[in-house]
Amino acid sequence: MENEFPLISKQIVIFGGKGGVGKTTAAAAFALALARADREKKLLIFSTDPAHSLSDSFGEEIGREKNGVAGNANLDAMEIDPGQWFEDLKQRYRSWTDELFDSLTGASRMEIKFDREAMRELVELTPPGIDEIAALGVISDLLDEDRYHSIILDTAPTGHLIRFLELPRVALSWIRTFMKLLLKYQNVVKATQVAEELVALSKSIKRVVALLTDAERCEFVGVAIPERMSLEETVDLAKALDNLEVPMKKLLINGLVPKNECSFCKSRRKMQDEVVANFKRRFRSVELFSAQQQPHEITGVKALLGHFQTWDRVQSRAKQR
Ligand SMILES: Nc1ncnc2c1ncn2[C@@H]1O[C@H](COP(=O)(O)OP(=O)(O)OP(=O)(O)O)[C@@H](O)[C@H]1O
Ligand SMILES: [Mg+2]
Repeated sequence: MENEFPLISKQIVIFGGKGGVGKTTAAAAFALALARADREKKLLIFSTDPAHSLSDSFGEEIGREKNGVAGNANLDAMEIDPGQWFEDLKQRYRSWTDELFDSLTGASRMEIKFDREAMRELVELTPPGIDEIAALGVISDLLDEDRYHSIILDTAPTGHLIRFLELPRVALSWIRTFMKLLLKYQNVVKATQVAEELVALSKSIKRVVALLTDAERCEFVGVAIPERMSLEETVDLAKALDNLEVPMKKLLINGLVPKNECSFCKSRRKMQDEVVANFKRRFRSVELFSAQQQPHEITGVKALLGHFQTWDRVQSRAKQR
């Protein structure tokens, strides 16, 4: 049977949910199916999960960047470790501020000492999650360059994602504070350079937020499993996303035991169906899909496409019987 998950996509499709529910696998399966459905469409699968699991899903080494994933000329992949990326940036800020203050003469010694410490502290106190946003700046650059029709984004587990979506205000005010301190030294060349970097960072954050909150360009696909706990977590996630104006339009319930199997499977499936019915009740305005539990790990093209084939629309209760 053909699968029922629409093979159309916005500029950005985000797969998100709790840890281990099958986000990376789902993002990889969707990207692969989309790439094969239309060879004219150039796609990128992008992961900010430092666990680097795209390689596991595709069954081939991805590294930082790979063109032509799994033999598909129109599918590229990119993996960024935002923590490492940002650590490098912080290291640069540290040496800039040192250089800046070492070069200062004239101003009051006390004031310089105070400002130097304040800036050092600011670098140490960068808000958590600013790294993810900054790394996502790469995405908006790629879209501007028109290199890809769509970017499929595999995210790190939920808490993280929400934090970075909540973060822009904190990040921007952090940047503003930094800038205020720098402004005092605007005659120093180094300070001007640092200020320019900060302006670029704040622009990039604003562009990413604009992109993620634009329903015309971005779509969030939630991934969950058919268990009560996951249902509650997904309700919370959907609420948080609503507040952030990145609504969850589609939800994939992953890991339904196939019907007509052993009696243990049958009773497990019955419990899963009840949870799915509850998902249906709680997510009336979301398009719901389910994916089957595979009897093996999902690695490589064949397994990914086999997985994607099982993504069915969740029917109303009456139709399910
Ligand atoms: N429908 C499925 N049937 C069988 N195995 C699955 C299914 N979906 C995912 N898996 C397996 O479950 C494991 C976890 O999946 P995956 O890495 O996609 O989860 P994740 O949500 O990305 O995890 P993390 O939060 O750690 O990034 C993988 O080994 C994957 O092959
Ligand atoms: Mg993952």
